Amino acid sequence: MSARTLFVTTALPYANGPLHIGHIMEYIQADIWVRFQRMRGHTVHFVGADDAHGAPIMIAAEKEGVTPQAFVERIAAGRKAYLDGFHIGFDHWHSTDSPENVELSQSIYRGLRDAGLIDVRPIEQFFDPVKGMFLPDRYIKGECPSCGAPDQYGDACENCGAVYAATELKNPFSALTGATPELRVSEHYFFRLSDPRCVTFLREWTRGNDRWGEPRLQPEVLAKAREWLGADANEGGDAGSLADWDISRDAPYFGIEIPDAPGKYFYVWLDAPIGYLASLKALCRERGLDFEALLADPATEQVHFIGKDIIYFHVLFWPAMLHFAGRKTPDRVNVHGFITVSGAKMSKSRGTGISPLRYLGIGMDPEWLRYYLAAKLNSHVQDVDFDPDDFLARVNADLIGKYVNIASRASGFVTRLFDGRVLPAEEVEDGAQRERAARLAAQVADAYEMREFSAVARLVMAYADEINQYFDAHKPWEMAKDPAQREALHRVCSRCLIAFHRLTVLLAPMLPATAARVAELFGTPPLRWEDLDVTPGTASPVRSIGRYRHLLSRVEAKQLDALFDAGAEAAKPAAPDSDAGATISIDDFARIDLRVARIVDAQAVEGSTKLLRLELDVGEARTRTVFSGIRAAYEPAALVGRLSVVVANLAPRTMRFGVSEGMVLSASGEDPQQPGALYLLDADEGAQPGMKIR
Ligand code: MSP
Ligand code: ZN
Repeated sequence: MSARTLFVTTALPYANGPLHIGHIMEYIQADIWVRFQRMRGHTVHFVGADDAHGAPIMIAAEKEGVTPQAFVERIAAGRKAYLDGFHIGFDHWHSTDSPENVELSQSIYRGLRDAGLIDVRPIEQFFDPVKGMFLPDRYIKGECPSCGAPDQYGDACENCGAVYAATELKNPFSALTGATPELRVSEHYFFRLSDPRCVTFLREWTRGNDRWGEPRLQPEVLAKAREWLGADANEGGDAGSLADWDISRDAPYFGIEIPDAPGKYFYVWLDAPIGYLASLKALCRERGLDFEALLADPATEQVHFIGKDIIYFHVLFWPAMLHFAGRKTPDRVNVHGFITVSGAKMSKSRGTGISPLRYLGIGMDPEWLRYYLAAKLNSHVQDVDFDPDDFLARVNADLIGKYVNIASRASGFVTRLFDGRVLPAEEVEDGAQRERAARLAAQVADAYEMREFSAVARLVMAYADEINQYFDAHKPWEMAKDPAQREALHRVCSRCLIAFHRLTVLLAPMLPATAARVAELFGTPPLRWEDLDVTPGTASPVRSIGRYRHLLSRVEAKQLDALFDAGAEAAKPAAPDSDAGATISIDDFARIDLRVARIVDAQAVEGSTKLLRLELDVGEARTRTVFSGIRAAYEPAALVGRLSVVVANLAPRTMRFGVSEGMVLSASGEDPQQPGALYLLDADEGAQPGMKIR
């Protein structure tokens, strides 16, 4: 096969938080595939970027009092630690908030407009009367119009995958203020997906094959697409079942301006996938390549890796956008399932479960995770579970017990007795063994190509088993005692080391750092797929071995304890971009001394519009004085006699009006227009002052 040119992407993570283990799984999957292609001698441009735009990021930045640009820059600065840490070999990492993306998005939009596929029409849209702005879809919740699942966001259903307009939600409410949104009219821009040209094109495209004759979509993804696209007219279905796609948002919005439409911005999902191209463009500039030529070249294969929650955007909107703007469409969209941790679904926003930085921080080897996930991944849209016991057993049994074991057992004899010289493969392997190796290499290559990584692990470990059995059967430790068996011992150990090298080549896409150490051990250049070639006359890459160095460690149970020990995490100072602080341990909570307090006196504080001076009975010899900012919500007299909750071990604080010896707890919303909306917590009658709350 002649060299391929591949343009490979992973989904662009929202720039509103650190990467979680789900992102890392996606990058590992794509990275393994990319490394395999590179080892085969193909050219791969592998790029990622932050998905910077949209209302959630604008709102989060506003809350922090920084510009959205500064906000996403800080997030972007944290990415390197994750990507380097897990050996993810992106060629470039970009941002959708970049000049390349502005230019490409506006140009693709103009292409769609010129094709007659943009409509402008007034729509009724939800407006939050409390917040005073049109509500972004993500900030409207309600019941899915399609399956009825409760608590769904206003753009897409996480339960059934349906995509819809927020106004179609049943029983909507504003997630910002809880208010029932009002409908107001605004002009919006639409991509006319209902145009018969689009439906016809997408029906063709989704069913199409890539240049290798493989379906462009996995069967389960195609089934989804067909559901969305409706049946063909000749199958008795109705054409034109796609709804037009609303691609504009009103100011204020963090996004890209729509040409010739003042005050209108592209909806984030319009410019997000174009960010793939923007990242490639930036890479091309760096490398002196012609971006438009590379992208338009029919020889360039465009391959996307994404998760199952964003199929709709990638198999309907994205190819249609590209096609009708006169551009080449993706060759493949590879969809993976979700990672769960001990069977539990992670929260989308917080990504609880395993903190990738914590994994690295406690010294766990990234290659373990790469191997473990690979051994569970296949070409289907299936969820993958990270189970700590399974992780330990699998990594230790396969990588240490089977794979590394071969080198650690065979290398000693060769370095000690034969000066590190490894006999040529042609001499120590017979025809059947050579054939077996060739067949294995071909099977593994096919499996990598098809993203059947679990099959790779199975095939490779079966071979490792054979080699270990071969070693055991010859008992080299006994041969070493008999000078007459020297030559035979050399042959047995050479064969094992050649097989070990071969196993390393086969595993190299999964274990790049280990593979580099093995190449060093054998004194060879970086491993290539060609190293597996056993056709007669091909020189074996393995000639000698250096002194055995440590290649991979075992997983220790205590490391997994540490990985899941949230208490230790919270006790550490939180790194700026770590996931620490997402949860606290029960010990953290226990450090707060909460007590029942009876309010024995309450007075307005002279000179303050906010404070009340409370005298509290906390079951101690004397009462405590606490200043509390609840004046706007409570008449002092109404508080006297009530039982409340106080933080009793808060350091005393000197205020202008005296020393405050604690804090009473109250609930409040975040609405600046309702500053008085405060609700004191209390304890049921019967509780005694000083009782501990736990
Ligand atoms: N910003 C959009 C994608 C735009 S692509 C032009 C987005 N971002 S995301 O941060 O929510 O998700 C990024 C990728 O991570 C998606 O492919 C998503 O499916 C994947 N994952 C999110 N949670 C995941 C798991 N629990 N497991 C595996 N992948 C998961 O969507
Ligand atoms: Zn639904």
